[in-house]
Amino acid sequence: MLAAYSKSFEILTINSVGNGSRRRHPLADKTVDMYGLSGHTKKIKQIRKTTMKTQVAIIGGGPSGLLLARLLQTRGIESVVLERKTKAYVLGRIRAGVLEQGLVSLMEQAGCADRLHAEGIAHDGTLISYGDEMFRVNFTEHTGKPVMVYGQTEVTRDLYGGLEQSSAQIVFNAEDVVIHNADTDKPHVTYVVDGKPNRINCEFVAGCDGFHGVSRQTIPIEVRREYEKVYPFGWLGILSETPPVNHELIYANSPRGFALCSMRNENLSRYYIQCSLNDKPENWSDDAFWHELKRRIPTDQADKLVTGPSIEKSIAPLRSFVTEPMRWGRLFLCGDAAHIVPPTGAKGLNTAASDVHYLFNGLRDYYENQSTNGIDKYSEKALARVWKAERFSWWFSSLMHSYPDQSEFDLKMQIAELEFLRSNRAAQQAMAENYVGLPY
Ligand code: FAD
Ligand code: PHB
Repeated sequence: MLAAYSKSFEILTINSVGNGSRRRHPLADKTVDMYGLSGHTKKIKQIRKTTMKTQVAIIGGGPSGLLLARLLQTRGIESVVLERKTKAYVLGRIRAGVLEQGLVSLMEQAGCADRLHAEGIAHDGTLISYGDEMFRVNFTEHTGKPVMVYGQTEVTRDLYGGLEQSSAQIVFNAEDVVIHNADTDKPHVTYVVDGKPNRINCEFVAGCDGFHGVSRQTIPIEVRREYEKVYPFGWLGILSETPPVNHELIYANSPRGFALCSMRNENLSRYYIQCSLNDKPENWSDDAFWHELKRRIPTDQADKLVTGPSIEKSIAPLRSFVTEPMRWGRLFLCGDAAHIVPPTGAKGLNTAASDVHYLFNGLRDYYENQSTNGIDKYSEKALARVWKAERFSWWFSSLMHSYPDQSEFDLKMQIAELEFLRSNRAAQQAMAENYVGLPY
């Protein structure tokens, strides 16, 4: 089913007022500024506005928006995805690499898991090092589940593929997105493409537009409660076409700071080192990066590390953030739009996926069974899982990083906790259960 289109002409009346203020047509939104009309003389301009009608307007074409669109499509529920950037830009972002089984199942449900199964690498455990000591936490032994190493970029590519094949509506370069009347049962969204204003009349809005998007800000400040912890460091990451140093990930606590050895496939490695918040990727030559990484991982691993030119280098700050509630009227927040975790636990994309699961099932229940139960419980259910992922990511980040104000006592506590984790089955089980993903 395709979204319905219609075209209308909006008459914008711009008044000449001494202080430059303008009276806007109620539907004109930002089009006056966009056309750059001066307020000195009275002008009338006709602007062609395209209006579409759909069931769910999805703001953001990252993994959460695309997964939701694709799942809805499998049930015949129509949506339009509005993405601010180009497809190439979205696919150029190097981000997550570890998928929980829950996300793998959602990709299967979305009919987009063939390549994931062919190219993803199942990992049964992970390695944790401190100084020259290293131990393994076995996921399958403790939980019966592995995790899947498969890049977020590839997840996104597969979802675009699935959506495009079935002629889904994805609008790229959608600027100035504004969500209107989300607290009524007739919301609509306006946006601009190529300088032209557009409008979508819809029944629901899914805010999947990441941490810097507009959706969260649409919820009035007096309704929103935000919780935040900013960490005093970032991660400098590189991607290199070299074989991974180990067949499993290594999370390294070292006196020089955290490091992570990860991968995308047998000839594509992803490495991170903790860096200062003031640092810049251009301050780090490839040689300097490799040299520093080698000093943070056990000697036997450093000795076999294969280095090479980086093909991507970027810095990500670390943050824990949650906004409550995740629903306002007919607007539902999903993924990074509602919460951020520090990447140490590999939970960001996976938590976005569990939000999508709850929202998809709520909307499905609404359209197929005329029940509002699922959407009414959405915020509560999603947040219950989000806070557990926040706790795990905060715990693992606190355990593995060097803090600028860390005392000798704090350091001893980190080592004692690492030794406890190394030797205690229950502690390893708890870590494994969280890492592979709590049930939803
Ligand atoms: P995003 O990926 O941010 O997508 C939002 C989309 O909305 C973007 O395409 C953006 O262009 C678009 N948008 C923004 N504003 C607007 C607007 N106004 N109008 C229209 N469109 C808009 N997570 C894991 O689970 N495992 C990992 O291993 C992992 N590793 C990570 C490593 C790093 C270095 C980083 C930075 C993150 C990592 N994450 C990981 C987190 C994960 O990448 C994010 O949680 C995930 O991208 C969230 O997806 P999203 O779709 O909610 O948001
Ligand atoms: C990654 O491969 O990018 C990655 C893996 C595990 C993490 C974070 C990032 O915890």
